[in-house]
Amino acid sequence: MGWNSWNHFGRNVNDADVRAAADALVSSGMRDAGYIYVNIDDTWEGTRDAEGNIQSNEKFPDMKALADYVHSKGLKLGIYSSPGPKTCAGFEGSYGHEEQDARTYAAWGIDYLKYDLCSYRLILAQQADNLSAAQKDVLKQAVADPRQQRMVMMRMSDAYSPKQIETMKAAYEKMHQALAKTGRPIVFSLCQYGLGDVWKWGASVGGNAWRTTGDIRDNYGSMSAIGFGQLDIAQYAGPGHWNDPDMLEVGNGGMTADEYRTHMSLWALLAAPLLAGNDLSKMTPETLSILTNHDIIAVDQDALGKQADRVWASGAKEIWSRPLTGGAVAVGLFNRGDEATSVTLNFSNAGVRGPAKVRDLWAGKDLGRMRDTYTATVPRHGVVMLRLEP
Ligand code: DGJ
Repeated sequence: MGWNSWNHFGRNVNDADVRAAADALVSSGMRDAGYIYVNIDDTWEGTRDAEGNIQSNEKFPDMKALADYVHSKGLKLGIYSSPGPKTCAGFEGSYGHEEQDARTYAAWGIDYLKYDLCSYRLILAQQADNLSAAQKDVLKQAVADPRQQRMVMMRMSDAYSPKQIETMKAAYEKMHQALAKTGRPIVFSLCQYGLGDVWKWGASVGGNAWRTTGDIRDNYGSMSAIGFGQLDIAQYAGPGHWNDPDMLEVGNGGMTADEYRTHMSLWALLAAPLLAGNDLSKMTPETLSILTNHDIIAVDQDALGKQADRVWASGAKEIWSRPLTGGAVAVGLFNRGDEATSVTLNFSNAGVRGPAKVRDLWAGKDLGRMRDTYTATVPRHGVVMLRLEP
């Protein structure tokens, strides 16, 4: 759990924004609710010095001092790079400098690395079968020229051969080894948009989490397509290695409060990393209460570490459920439709036989002991989140 700069600040993030985020995590109570990592995304990177050491750019004058500041607040600092020569925003990646960069991060006091495939896709593309010499040339040139990258990547296929997947795995493993060699515990977050069924091998290259999808956007269509799209991958998540459906958009303004509650509920059921992506220094009380709902966070962070799957669906109604420690179950009754509707949970769909104590998590209300079924009215694009304790 933590915060990441990208969804709100994008390319504009600077040292002051990161310090303000750290301050706000503390003053808002979010740190104490569990949001610990303060993660700088793309665009912090400067040039390399004569020895090849990566330096931060003018937006981040002193990374070590920033890490010290963040640590002094009881928080941890995250950073971002790419296995390719260039990041997605065209800044310096770690290609050919993996060990050196890992050492630099450790020396600065970095605690988390998001490693974003970006221009490494151009290296993978060169391994495609049946490429002409001219196509290979275009790819080689694009690796060195960020302006060409976007154009070329837009025309590239997302289907990878076993050989390309092995190459991609090796690139992540290289940084995994480099991080391990520093001796500093650094969370390793793979970002390659779910390519090559990463959930099947992410943990084997040291990934503590791996993105399962392309980028989230701050609208219901994007968020719900991602959240409800996380079917059949629960078995790959567990303590220390999680599926990551991308960062939170809660509080960024593009969704209603009901839609943001759906967002938080899905991510909690999915045992997803909870990385807030809003401007923490300008949050409404409603945003803060959605991000810090204690019962919802407890579902996300449940120690059993089992991700939810969909257990029932009918038209726009879906029910997802997740086993929790001690035999309890978290259940989300979702309404993807445009009108409020009633949704009935059959306890047996959530694996509950016999009576159970039921709590409505967003309402913060114990509903008492019930058996067999529970029917709730669920608002448009909304959710009723329950905890059932047999
Ligand atoms: C693509 C990633 O998916 C985003 O989360 C963000 O890190 C951008 N790259 C930064 O360039």
